[in-house]
Amino acid sequence: MSKQTNIKKVTTSIIRKMKGFEKISMLTAYDYSMAKLVDSVGCNMILVGDSLGNVMLGYDDTTHVTMADMIHHTKAVARGAKHSMVVADMPFLSCHLGVYEAVKNAGALIAEGGAAAVKLEGGEEVAEIITAITNAGIPVCGHLGLTPQSVNQLGGYRVQAKTEESAEKLIRNAKAVEEAGAFCIVLECIPHELAKKVSEELNIPTIGIGAGPYCDGQVLVLHDMLGMFDDYVPSFVKSFANVGEVITDGVAKYIEEVKSGTFPVSKK
Ligand code: KIV
Repeated sequence: MSKQTNIKKVTTSIIRKMKGFEKISMLTAYDYSMAKLVDSVGCNMILVGDSLGNVMLGYDDTTHVTMADMIHHTKAVARGAKHSMVVADMPFLSCHLGVYEAVKNAGALIAEGGAAAVKLEGGEEVAEIITAITNAGIPVCGHLGLTPQSVNQLGGYRVQAKTEESAEKLIRNAKAVEEAGAFCIVLECIPHELAKKVSEELNIPTIGIGAGPYCDGQVLVLHDMLGMFDDYVPSFVKSFANVGEVITDGVAKYIEEVKSGTFPVSKK
């Protein structure tokens, strides 16, 4: 069978050009079969988020996710995504121990994992890191607002940048991330009007999560929007399907048929 070569892959230049013309769709995925499904219906970007620590590995927060975890899951997603652009999260502390470590870790997510870009949390304080990674030829997606890797510092998962001072700081940080070379930026859990202002002031696209309708695109955790994970579901999440119920119904039916002897049937 000949290899399929006619599939156009979403690139950073396509994502940049979508700003102002078409909203960008992004969803998380952490394995091959889910990535294939998300990719097959034309989602622009797939994020291998470190939220895999919660939904795939059962941790309380994302600080326990390692580079090895991220590479393992990114490899699986990259094999399933023929069209969507795959962005891999840089896990906790993977870019805070110096420029060398940061570029090396970002490089591993591309070379070993097969991602097309990396995402990292932070503003002015990581600008130098963003520039170094970008200069190494690796596209970077920024992440501001509620940055889950700093949950212990933030004191919980709540809306950020609600005061005038913190809103101004967020705008400064967003501009620093753009100037450092990021091609897009995730804005998580910030007031809608602030997300609108940031989206208007930046040239790069903003991808919102719990940040309202004015961003240039939206991202959600796949397991949240499909009803596959109920340990904690943020209030901004919309349920687009109840896959969890489909799975438990199917499994319960299977158990019933195994117990009753209805499945399997004997073949002569
Ligand atoms: O890890 C993740 O899934 C994320 C999204 C919530 C944006 O960073």
